[in-house]
Amino acid sequence: MSHQTDGAPLLDQTLNALRGGVGPVHVLTDADLRATYETDWTRRFHGEAAAVVRPSTVDEVAAVLRACGEVGAAVVPQGGNTGLVGGGVPRAAAPRDERGSSRSQVILSTLRLRDLEAVDEVAGEVTVGAGVTLAALQEHVRRAGWDVGVDMGSRDSATVGGMVATNAGGVNVLRYGVMRQQVVGIEAVLADGSIIRRLPGLVKDNTGYALPSLLAGSEGTLAVITRVRLRLVPQLSRRTVALLAVDDAAQAAAFAAQLRRSLATLTAAELFDDDGMRLVLRHTGGEPPFREAHPRYLLVECGAASDPTDELVNAIAELPSRDAVAASDEGARHRLWKLREGHTEAVNAAGVPHKLDVAVPIGRIGEFDVIVREAIRRADPGARVFVYGHVGDGNLHVNVLGPDPEDEAVDDAVLELTIQMGGAVSAEHGIGVAKVRWLIADRGEPDVAAMRGIKRALDPAGGLNPGVLFPEES
Ligand code: FAD
Ligand code: MLT
Ligand code: ZN
Repeated sequence: MSHQTDGAPLLDQTLNALRGGVGPVHVLTDADLRATYETDWTRRFHGEAAAVVRPSTVDEVAAVLRACGEVGAAVVPQGGNTGLVGGGVPRAAAPRDERGSSRSQVILSTLRLRDLEAVDEVAGEVTVGAGVTLAALQEHVRRAGWDVGVDMGSRDSATVGGMVATNAGGVNVLRYGVMRQQVVGIEAVLADGSIIRRLPGLVKDNTGYALPSLLAGSEGTLAVITRVRLRLVPQLSRRTVALLAVDDAAQAAAFAAQLRRSLATLTAAELFDDDGMRLVLRHTGGEPPFREAHPRYLLVECGAASDPTDELVNAIAELPSRDAVAASDEGARHRLWKLREGHTEAVNAAGVPHKLDVAVPIGRIGEFDVIVREAIRRADPGARVFVYGHVGDGNLHVNVLGPDPEDEAVDDAVLELTIQMGGAVSAEHGIGVAKVRWLIADRGEPDVAAMRGIKRALDPAGGLNPGVLFPEES
């Protein structure tokens, strides 16, 4: 007997090998048990898996990859399933192998890889399992007076492995960089079940190709990451947040640049518009921060060992903003942050969004924010548009509600404009399946050919997350 899905059947022999590898209770084949793993956070992407497999050690991960490799099953690595480009859930149409036969899809969940090793106090580093959530990691390292350089709204569910695989960005990039810059060591399993491991945490290591950097942003297409060694940053015990009402995105970018120059303690500079803020307030039930509505808002945060309030307040007093408020106590800071971080959930609650996460040259953010709205209106006059993001590092999230999830006209309009303006079609969420059609347009044929060469070298049979990042080769 075999377990039938929309791809090829997964033979009992393989299911038995998986059960032998990870234990029978950690191989989920029942449709009800698979369901939450099969649909992404936005509900836009969904596919059927033959099984969800939950290994708890690197050797179990290797056993899963070998068992799947033997029958040509596709392996879809999944962490917290908070990814926004459909790369962590099975493909809607079963992928094909080299001979054109359809592959069954196996979700490899990393959630049981949750070791938290002791913080290395001298190096300021920590090694953790790929399935540890960002919130658990933050709690762990903060107890030792350290912090994690990357932070973002999905912290309660997003995993360290997923953050490396997507090269996550978040709200502190202008201070500490993206996830790739935090990674000083990695353990991962290649498609053939072999294990690569380099975890001593050497800050300087020029011994050959930097595999941790290569795996950062590889979106589950090159290896399954099982453990990560991260550089930590000092915990900033005193924080102050300010919200500035501004005329437009250009002014927000200019203010952010001025604050980056004048405030060594600046940790975040975030943008949102009034429609987005009203949506968040309706969703969360909060109060507006200003009596009047304003076109755009810039949220900035400073963090330091001593109270940064005076320097932040003095710096924003120099800026000709329309209005401003500042907060340093935890509750008030949280309420201001909620206005920005609440966007993702509020938009998702209002419909199935088209999420375009783009990078734009910072000097052109103002122009982009105007033109992109016109481009969307032309593509779909009825669409609702919310633009927010990390203005301090040139990353805008263009969210569109209204068009059918399958209708890509607005996606195309936004991404075409992004490339025309010298930007990138993904800033921090990745290509996933959502933007596969746009990879060559953005990167060009020679880059994509080089990437495919790397993919073929590490995963010759193409079983690791097929259909993600690259279009499937016919
Ligand atoms: P998943 O969604 O499970 O997987 C994402 C991708 O990584 C998939 O391609 C998957 O195959 C691969 N993958 C996962 N784990 C592994 C592994 N161990 N080995 C190999 N491949 C793996 N992203 C940002 O960058 N910045 C933000 O500010 C931000 N804010 C968010 C806020 C909300 C409310 C939500 C829902 C999402 C947000 N995201 C943000 C997107 C998302 O949280 C990140 O992309 C995150 O890094 C994904 O982690 P995950 O564990 O959920 O990965
Ligand atoms: C954010 O910055 O809020 C996240 O990247 C998620 C999103 O784009 O909604
Ligand atoms: Zn973001």
